[in-house]
Amino acid sequence: MSADEKINQLAKEVSTCAKCVLNESRKKSVPGDGPADAEIMFIGEGPGFHENEQGHPFVGASGKFLDQLLAQAGVTREDVFIANVVKCRPPGNRDPLPDELAACDTYLEAQIEAINPSIIVTLGRFSMNKFFPGAKISTVHGQMQKVGERFVIPMFHPAAALHQAALKPSILGDFSKLPEQLQQARAALGKPVVVGKAKNKEEAIPDDTPKQLNLF
Ligand code: URA
Ligand code: SF4
Repeated sequence: MSADEKINQLAKEVSTCAKCVLNESRKKSVPGDGPADAEIMFIGEGPGFHENEQGHPFVGASGKFLDQLLAQAGVTREDVFIANVVKCRPPGNRDPLPDELAACDTYLEAQIEAINPSIIVTLGRFSMNKFFPGAKISTVHGQMQKVGERFVIPMFHPAAALHQAALKPSILGDFSKLPEQLQQARAALGKPVVVGKAKNKEEAIPDDTPKQLNLF
């Protein structure tokens, strides 16, 4: 099965999943969006009101802010894969519970395996805790660390920065470092490093190399 087929298959499974109690109150499951060959994968917390209505991640207020942050990093939604630690909305936007996180993690793991991103950016503490249990986000945010075959960068959740103005410069600063960190990750993983600013993807990517983001 290709990565694309695997991602579609997982989305199908998620749409009928009843492995945790969140299935009872969901309207639409939100498996995640983006290309199956994305170099950068973002992992948020879980669907909110609008995501539950539409079936897509980050389509509400924090999604608007995420779009600005992506622009800060020189990327668009079409370049990246965006998922969550739980695929169904916790009622009233409560925190996901440990058994819900555990039940849904098999889907997230399968997505990571299929996409095989160079960089995972965790948004907020639940996805950070998956990779760095017990870490303090105020200390480690923006710092890229190798985890197995890839790199993980913990960042604040966009919603947290929307509600606490003091976090906004931090999250903007962290996103602006992403292009440079991607180059570092590519070099460390033995993937082609794109040099020079290209106007479009075709210019940056010779036909016979894997897809690269248009960051420089
Ligand atoms: N917040 C999240 O963590 N994920 C979404 O998809 C939307 C808001
Ligand atoms: Fe299944 Fe995840 Fe939805 Fe729970 S949150 S029902 S594990 S898809």
